[in-house]
Amino acid sequence: MADFQQRDPLSPAFWDERFERRFTPWDHGGVPQALRDFAATSAPLVTLIPGCGSAYELAFLARRGWNATAIDFSPAAVAQGRQAAGAHAARVVEADFFAWQPAVPLQLIYERAFLCAMPRAMWPRVAARWAQLLAPGALLAGYFFFDDAPKGPPFGISRAQLDELLRADFDCIVDDAVSDSIPVFAGKERWMVWRRR
Ligand SMILES: C[S@@+](CC[C@H](N)C(=O)[O-])C[C@H]1O[C@@H](n2cnc3c(N)ncnc32)[C@H](O)[C@@H]1O
Repeated sequence: MADFQQRDPLSPAFWDERFERRFTPWDHGGVPQALRDFAATSAPLVTLIPGCGSAYELAFLARRGWNATAIDFSPAAVAQGRQAAGAHAARVVEADFFAWQPAVPLQLIYERAFLCAMPRAMWPRVAARWAQLLAPGALLAGYFFFDDAPKGPPFGISRAQLDELLRADFDCIVDDAVSDSIPVFAGKERWMVWRRR
């Protein structure tokens, strides 16, 4: 594996270094199928994509008339995300998920490789922020990575841990297998939709 200077995934510099050196093994290279299926059957939702990275999903949703915003705290990720977003580049914003404030109430937070980018000790803060940003009835939908390897990122979760993390504020309404995983997540991720209680 490449020898990186930055070791702390809580620092934007960690992600900058990897984007700049084009070491992005989590990158799907496009819009994953379950999100396509979800968007095909949903009315447009006010959506946040936290830790968006390459942000392929932003243009996909914006083209369908969704009010979507993608945020990332890594300037290199934002630059890459803006490139992929094309005409919608202004909707890719450099911001820290824990500080960013929505201009209008969110109806959906899209999760992909953001929770698993965080050391496990951060997970309660992520879950609390999801709950804070979503009003009752709003959705948290996306890909959740299940694994128990001690080192990461990606840091996997167990189903019991995820239930424990979200139980207080969310109900799980969809839990599906994923058909188009890339190698790092293959056999270990599920498409899930959680509704804010
Ligand atoms: C593993 S990458 C996933 C990127 C993208 N979601 C994807 O599916 O390709 C994790 C991303 O989260 C971003 N990130 C980590 N902590 C963040 C924070 N507190 N606020 C905003 N972005 C953050 C990183 O900069 C990185 O781009």
